[in-house]
Amino acid sequence: MLRKKEKYVVAVVGATGAVGNEMIATLEQREFPVGKLRLFASERSAGKTLEFRSEKLPVEVITESSFKGIDIALFSAGAERSRIWAPVAAQSGCVVIDNSSQWRMDPGVPLVVPEVNPHDLNWHKGIIANPNCSTIQMVVALKPIHDSAKIRRVVVTTFQAVSGTGKKAMEELMQQTADLLSFRGIQCNVYPHQIAFNVLPQIDKFLDNGYTKEEMKMVNETRKIMGDNSIRVTATTVRVPVFRGHSEALNIETERKITANEVRELLSRAPGVIVFDAPEKSVYPLPIHCDGKDEVFVGRIREDESIDNGINMWIVSDNLRKGAALNAVQIAEYLIKE
Ligand SMILES: NC(=O)c1ccc[n+]([C@@H]2O[C@H](COP(=O)([O-])OP(=O)(O)OC[C@H]3O[C@@H](n4cnc5c(N)ncnc54)[C@H](OP(=O)(O)O)[C@@H]3O)[C@@H](O)[C@H]2O)c1
Repeated sequence: MLRKKEKYVVAVVGATGAVGNEMIATLEQREFPVGKLRLFASERSAGKTLEFRSEKLPVEVITESSFKGIDIALFSAGAERSRIWAPVAAQSGCVVIDNSSQWRMDPGVPLVVPEVNPHDLNWHKGIIANPNCSTIQMVVALKPIHDSAKIRRVVVTTFQAVSGTGKKAMEELMQQTADLLSFRGIQCNVYPHQIAFNVLPQIDKFLDNGYTKEEMKMVNETRKIMGDNSIRVTATTVRVPVFRGHSEALNIETERKITANEVRELLSRAPGVIVFDAPEKSVYPLPIHCDGKDEVFVGRIREDESIDNGINMWIVSDNLRKGAALNAVQIAEYLIKE
């Protein structure tokens, strides 16, 4: 569907946001063959410019004809914009890689993490979905274990950074921290409670089953990406006062017994994973180490002594990179290679 070219016209929709900014930086850092970069955001940003390869580019407002001549559009402007504009873009002949939740569970849209299910890119019809940030980093680490020992069940608790909510949430954490340290009152605009010096066991809205939307995304998206509906997943997703980098504590039950050493061995050979696991020296992944890095870092790998075939581990990755922008650019790289 994407004609092979030397250089491509690429669009970033939501260019002024946390993910959009990272997409522009990732395209530049990975030397993606961009012939022309078009940047889109809301009317609020009209007149602004953003830098790409030392050049100031204008931010445009989307119209019906915006996508003509664009080869690849990376969307990160929220589900509503993706619902409206992704089909318009696809109709114009451009391939959309969408970061929002809008198309992820649509059976006609592939949901792709290149280290896990690149083959699903072969059947896209113009829109490809990028999974949720907390799901991406988890499946990158789960895939090699599933291939080797077949995962039956995953119990995951996340510790998610505020950048996962976007720019306004980062400003809220910064402002609340400054206000509290200056003995001033705080305002809560983005989250329902104070986020500075606090931990919130709620990410996104609650559903009728008592879980949040974020928790159910981890359940449903994991099965779709891994192509295995038999994997049982249960999640508790928690927002923590960290700017960048999601952490996850996982308990995994497998069909075949697998030792902690085997898991270490498997993951150290897995694409996109770095094992960072020397507990005797207090070496384990931390969000501050993963900031700006591409890989998924895994540590605290140990056998669960309470069940026969169980593994516990700790996973950290930069939610704006592998959890969003990098995964989208990797999909685009795969498309132009194929
Ligand atoms: N943050 C993450 O870690 C992460 C990970 C995976 C997926 N995502 C998804 O990526 C999307 C963006 O997230 P974010 O964290 O980057 O949010 P953000 O920082 O709040 O940025 C939102 C972007 O959308 C643009 N936008 C808003 N309304 C628009 C409109 N009517 N027309 C065109 N553009 C509009 C904004 O433009 P203005 O600046 O002009 O308002 C801004 O560029 C969301 O769907 C989110 O679920 C985020």
